[in-house]
Amino acid sequence: MVSDTANLHVEIFSAYLNSRFGKRYITSYINWFVHTNEALAIAAVDDERRIVGYALGVSSKHGYKMHRALRWVVVSSLIIRPWILCDKRFWQEARSRIEPLARPVKTCDQHNLPQPSIALVTIGVHPAYRRERVGLHLMEAFEQMATSCKTQSLYAWVFEDNVSARQLYEKCGWQPYTNSLSTRGSLKYFKLLD
Ligand SMILES: CC(C)(COP(=O)(O)OP(=O)(O)OC[C@H]1O[C@@H](n2cnc3c(N)ncnc32)[C@H](O)[C@@H]1OP(=O)(O)O)[C@@H](O)C(=O)NCCC(=O)NCCS
Repeated sequence: MVSDTANLHVEIFSAYLNSRFGKRYITSYINWFVHTNEALAIAAVDDERRIVGYALGVSSKHGYKMHRALRWVVVSSLIIRPWILCDKRFWQEARSRIEPLARPVKTCDQHNLPQPSIALVTIGVHPAYRRERVGLHLMEAFEQMATSCKTQSLYAWVFEDNVSARQLYEKCGWQPYTNSLSTRGSLKYFKLLD
């Protein structure tokens, strides 16, 4: 299932930086969510149990653990694919990880979201299954799982021009933070849970 989800992720997010790291990296990435207590991983399957969608999340306080756990896979992927170093998004990403160490900046917690809070890191639906409410069901399942872990709030970053994801979030009661547009062109959405 992890391997099928990794294939789907690479297909859906082929233009994204993390897919450029290759299937091995994406498989490790998804495995991390599946096997980590502080993370959520949900899959939607069709009648033949083929993966048609998935959602991944992590507690706001433990996201850094994923980067730490995957650092050697990142290094080995860079050795095999050194051209990633020419992708300016790689350096933007690296800077965004290093800068807070030197100069604390506003992050989720400083937006005063009630804690504990969970980040929706990724949600994707196979192109052939879109507009059939798979995304909506994944969002509902994600919220239910988060609520069962006594989570007080959810948040996600989404590119400003990603209309389908933004509409989906808003349909599920999420709201965008004003003035949250990042230098990478993404907006922060949140939802408070009861
Ligand atoms: C965003 C995504 C997960 C939506 O999945 P989906 O299964 O097609 O969504 P649903 O059928 O459940 O749609 C639920 C609601 O979302 C909104 N929505 C979904 N796709 C939309 C689109 N293309 N345009 C506008 N609104 C859209 C609508 O409000 C829709 O409700 P409606 O059908 O009653 O109008 C899917 O388009 C996708 O995988 N996109 C690529 C990956 C991505 O960008 N993920 C988000 C960033 S991590």
